[in-house]
Amino acid sequence: MAEQRSSEWYAGTDRNSYIHRAWMRRGLPEDAFDGRPHIAIANTASDLTPCNAHLNEVMESVKAGIYEAGGIPLNLPVVSLGETLVRPTAMLWRNMAAMATEEMLRANPIDGVVLLGGCDKTIPSLLMAAASVDLPAIVVPGGPMKTGYFQGAALGCGTDVWRLSEEMRAGKLTEKQFLRSEASMISGKGHCNTMGTASTMALVAEALGTTIPGLAGTPAADARLLESSHETGRLIVELVAQDRRPSTFLTRGSFQNAIVALAAIGGSTNAVVHLLAIAGRLGIDLTLDDFDAIGSGVPLLVNLQPAGRFLMDDFQRAGGFLAVLKEVRDLLDPTALTVTGKPLVDYLDDAQIWDHEVITLRATPMIPDAGIAVLRGNLAPGGALIKPAAASPELLYHRGRAVVFDTIEDMHARIDDPDLEVDADSVLVLRGCGPKGYPGMPEVANMPLPKKLLEQGVRDMVRICDGRMSGTAYGTVVLHVTPEAAAGGALGIVENGDWIILDVEKRRLTLDVEQEELNKRSPNKATTDGFAKPTRGWEKLYVEHVMGADTGADLDFLQGSSGSTVSRESH
Ligand code: FES
Repeated sequence: MAEQRSSEWYAGTDRNSYIHRAWMRRGLPEDAFDGRPHIAIANTASDLTPCNAHLNEVMESVKAGIYEAGGIPLNLPVVSLGETLVRPTAMLWRNMAAMATEEMLRANPIDGVVLLGGCDKTIPSLLMAAASVDLPAIVVPGGPMKTGYFQGAALGCGTDVWRLSEEMRAGKLTEKQFLRSEASMISGKGHCNTMGTASTMALVAEALGTTIPGLAGTPAADARLLESSHETGRLIVELVAQDRRPSTFLTRGSFQNAIVALAAIGGSTNAVVHLLAIAGRLGIDLTLDDFDAIGSGVPLLVNLQPAGRFLMDDFQRAGGFLAVLKEVRDLLDPTALTVTGKPLVDYLDDAQIWDHEVITLRATPMIPDAGIAVLRGNLAPGGALIKPAAASPELLYHRGRAVVFDTIEDMHARIDDPDLEVDADSVLVLRGCGPKGYPGMPEVANMPLPKKLLEQGVRDMVRICDGRMSGTAYGTVVLHVTPEAAAGGALGIVENGDWIILDVEKRRLTLDVEQEELNKRSPNKATTDGFAKPTRGWEKLYVEHVMGADTGADLDFLQGSSGSTVSRESH
């Protein structure tokens, strides 16, 4: 076999190679260090990331495949982020997880890596790490959970939590019923079963070419996930032999495919920051405007929550991701390769739609132009996003008066106040929720509607925020407003009663106040200062170096690839 990177540690008869081999032997076969590729399995299994807890089982299948193909599999537990638990928001730790994984891949004697992710931030952080260290890498998405049911109705994790809690607040569901639904929400192993961020990022990883084609979307409990994991184990050994690194096949065309796919599946807006961050690690020139230019005219072809009705196991039953991609084949870059060495489009011929209620034909889309729209204007000169597919059509043009909240705490304290001056035409503004301001850019942009309006039957309002929105949420929500208020953005000078105009068709977000008046205003201090100035640790590093949402909210010094070379040795 060809000389491996791991041979830098293991080859030779000197003291250092002796130490490296001796401590690693522990039952490995004698020829383990004779040039066999050593493959890390970057494993985000964790009891505190319940969506990924089954990945140890997946790992065993990957291991078997690696062994079969002549490699040495090595479990490498890496930082894992449980979306529902981690405070103050998992997004604060995405870059830390990516940096830690990158450094551990580089620091260790490995030749390639299989990336096991699932819950929202885990696939993005793994891909950012792999892009930066640029060793052969393949993703295995852990898969969505099967559908759970409550009172005879299917439950979409996340999406139905918002719905049920709003119904309780509107008096349509008792607290007892609401709490009883809790036991049905999570039906088993796997991540959220809606087209939320986890499902989106799994499919986007496949569109990028970083998974075995046809794998993403396979439910966690489906035996085919283990079969594909086994196959991935074999394939990674081949990738190492061919030195097929991310930088050799991830191109702008790969990102074009990801953006087309994101629109066609009605994927989470979170994919925008993640794709921008991954592209930044590869030095690929991808901008916020590319999402609008490439994706906004792409039709929505799936009827999945949160925008639609069905869930991920329905999606798989109906033909899955490749059936969707086949419908938009002409929009895909035919040269963009996958980990197999073949173009993504080569895998579409056999794909078929089996249930047209779940996956529609291009000729009969759910929505003709479904991609994410990028808004600009004096309220968001750096850009802001809206997902028209998840918005109320009648609000896509709206002029209303601002009701401003300076922090999440302020919003929670006042949103249900009967004296809050708000009506159905108001525009709710929540600031201080960007990467620096919160810090970490939480998923709060889909703020709850005021209780008194819910009781009047109002179900959607225009909401504007410099934070993110859960991929399982819906509504007319303008998010990722850049620059964020804490970085001096115009969001920080909006006052209660200001007119705001949202015009999605024209891609405008305007604070309709005379410039002369705006010039006199100084930003709200609580917002510009952020919630608290971190004085130590990761949060301090993060706040000092995080970039805006328009470039992926990565740290400035993590952009670009550092490769896999480590020149020094301590022994
Ligand atoms: Fe893990 Fe939704 S909370 S994927």
